[in-house]
Amino acid sequence: MNAAVERAGAQVAHQAGARTVIPMKTVAVRYVVLNQKGGVGKTQTTFQVGRELAELGLRVLVVDFDPQGNLTYAMGLLPPEDTPEDAPSLPKAMTGAWTGTPRELVVEYPHAPGLLLLPWSWDHFSMAKDLEHCKKQEERLSWVLDEFDGFVDVILVDCPPSLDVLNDNALMAIGDGRGKVLVPVEAEDFSLRATNILLGQIKAAEIAFRMTIDILGFVVSKMTDTLLALDCLEKILAIPGIPVLATVKHRTEIQQCVREHKALRDHAPKNDQLAVYTALAGKLKP
Ligand SMILES: Nc1ncnc2c1ncn2[C@@H]1O[C@H](COP(=O)(O)OP(=O)(O)OP(=O)(O)O)[C@@H](O)[C@H]1O
Ligand SMILES: [Mg+2]
Repeated sequence: MNAAVERAGAQVAHQAGARTVIPMKTVAVRYVVLNQKGGVGKTQTTFQVGRELAELGLRVLVVDFDPQGNLTYAMGLLPPEDTPEDAPSLPKAMTGAWTGTPRELVVEYPHAPGLLLLPWSWDHFSMAKDLEHCKKQEERLSWVLDEFDGFVDVILVDCPPSLDVLNDNALMAIGDGRGKVLVPVEAEDFSLRATNILLGQIKAAEIAFRMTIDILGFVVSKMTDTLLALDCLEKILAIPGIPVLATVKHRTEIQQCVREHKALRDHAPKNDQLAVYTALAGKLKP
């Protein structure tokens, strides 16, 4: 059994002399979908794989950790414009400005039971700055995610295209066996360059935070059949120690998902790339 999934079997409580076995909370498996390069498929990977994991019968939480709010938009779950400024939010939960239970923040994707979203909020814009005033500022996302153990089976975090305190939080949340990094990449030269920088930054974070960070693998998105793309794919495949988990081809129907506010399974279930996301979900399944 995955050590990160199950931290313990059962807890024995004594109630008026009787022994009652209380099942311990199942620890949710965490993945952070991370690359500081913009537009490489982080949000699509999070949404489509989250949807496929839900299809496999798991309870899945996808977290919009990007101030752009693209995941929340793609799922059709943006908060109403008149949401009051003091409304609870993920950033407020992280800074302690709101002390309710983070599960209250979750909204359901309407087309699949089991797929839940911790949504974007206006507070996301100042999240990095607001964290500056917090002690243990890099640990705050992990603390919030801890609240979902026993509530969901898998958590996928859609990270922003940056290398700052937000992505330090993402790495901390999966450090020391709590989860793994998924790295979406494109088969093109800028993306290859960005990937090398990212791998260096992850090594630096391991040293700075004194923890191990596991990278599960690459997800190549928007793959085309040009010679240049094929050459770049070969270079990605040659990176030692990090497997390519999936190669998703460029498809207009995947792009259209954003406008339709639906995952590929709900927008175009006959699309040939759906099977790629399903297979990827199978590799992430606890
Ligand atoms: N397989 C694909 N085929 C066609 N378009 C795709 C595919 N994957 C992603 N896209 C499109 O590419 C663009 C970038 O993808 P996405 O938003 O997932 O990247 P990102 O890494 O999350 O970007 P950002 O860094 O800005 O958050 C989007 O318009 C998305 O719809
Ligand atoms: Mg994104």
